[in-house]
Amino acid sequence: MEDMNGKVALVTGASSGIGRATAELFAEKGASVVVAARREEELKDLVESIETAGGKATAVKTDVSKAEDVRRMVEHAIESFGRLDFAVNNAGIEGPVSSLVDLAEDDWDRVLDINLKGNYLCIKYEAEAMLNAGNGGSIVNGGSVNSFLGFAGGAAYVASKHGQVGLTTSASAEFGPRGIRVNIVCPGFVKTPMHQRIRGVLGNELFEMVLANSVHLQRAGEPEEIARTIAFLCSEDASYITGQTLTPDGGFTLTV
Ligand SMILES: NC(=O)c1ccc[n+]([C@@H]2O[C@H](COP(=O)([O-])OP(=O)(O)OC[C@H]3O[C@@H](n4cnc5c(N)ncnc54)[C@H](O)[C@@H]3O)[C@@H](O)[C@H]2O)c1
Repeated sequence: MEDMNGKVALVTGASSGIGRATAELFAEKGASVVVAARREEELKDLVESIETAGGKATAVKTDVSKAEDVRRMVEHAIESFGRLDFAVNNAGIEGPVSSLVDLAEDDWDRVLDINLKGNYLCIKYEAEAMLNAGNGGSIVNGGSVNSFLGFAGGAAYVASKHGQVGLTTSASAEFGPRGIRVNIVCPGFVKTPMHQRIRGVLGNELFEMVLANSVHLQRAGEPEEIARTIAFLCSEDASYITGQTLTPDGGFTLTV
């Protein structure tokens, strides 16, 4: 396991699912972790759990769709641990499953504000801090297989996730010359609260059919498996990888 001692990692959407697993993994590897999300109780619980296991963590209540929150989040990271090496922009919502014809403008705005504008705001302030420090860094955005696939009823989510790919490649091109790598992780089905909510809307039967017939590994992923993909992208093993999408999906997107 790569030693991340002395490094500082920031994870958004850390209060549950993939974000929580990622924060725990970084802490296990020795990094000091800044956990950000909107729900303070869950963040407090995560910090306690990391500290009990011997790790270092601090929480900062953040709504990633608000510029002032995101600016303060990065400021909090620097004030708490003195530097920022890894930033995982994982916060996201699925939004309603709705026909485009019926999709409310407010729902479109909410999904795009959190998933896409939130990702832009995070990169803006994280990259600024990394550039000021001059130590390089690694930014990993939380995409989805819906960053390149679409589905009926998911237009806002799909559009936001596609947009994150453009943000990733643009940021990679801009910050690569200064030693900051920017990549996007695009998971398939992962067992998280979001997965449970979508199952609730689309039905267990449909999910089980898709998992059995369209996922080569015939199962949903664990949040820890996505966390390890993210940690790989932050590690020295990925030192020549930037601007890329990495797709831990059990083979889902390769099935026609
Ligand atoms: N679970 C899956 O099957 C799956 C598949 C592909 C992609 N993803 C993506 O992975 C990421 C994490 O999802 P998850 O499955 O762990 O879901 P989750 O609902 O368990 O976690 C999402 C996290 O984002 C946080 N969040 C939501 N809005 C926020 C905001 N405005 N500001 C700050 N934090 C906010 C939530 O509080 C939560 O901590 C999302 O971007 C999601 O789109 C998930």
